[in-house]
Amino acid sequence: MNVTINGEPATVEPGRTIAAVVPNVGVFCAIGVCHGCLVTVNDVPDVRACQRVLREGDEVITR
Ligand code: FES
Repeated sequence: MNVTINGEPATVEPGRTIAAVVPNVGVFCAIGVCHGCLVTVNDVPDVRACQRVLREGDEVITR
């Protein structure tokens, strides 16, 4: 499955969360409570990386 992370193409296994494949998102609780892992996905801000499963073609910005 192909996605883009901070402008770089990446190939990831289906069913994985953003937090599982992007090491620098700041995961603390990993259960969707702390909002420490917010990223932008497909121009939508404040998505919780620990909860959001990647989909084909997603564009993720972590900064
Ligand atoms: S790590 Fe706490 S909401 Fe994602």
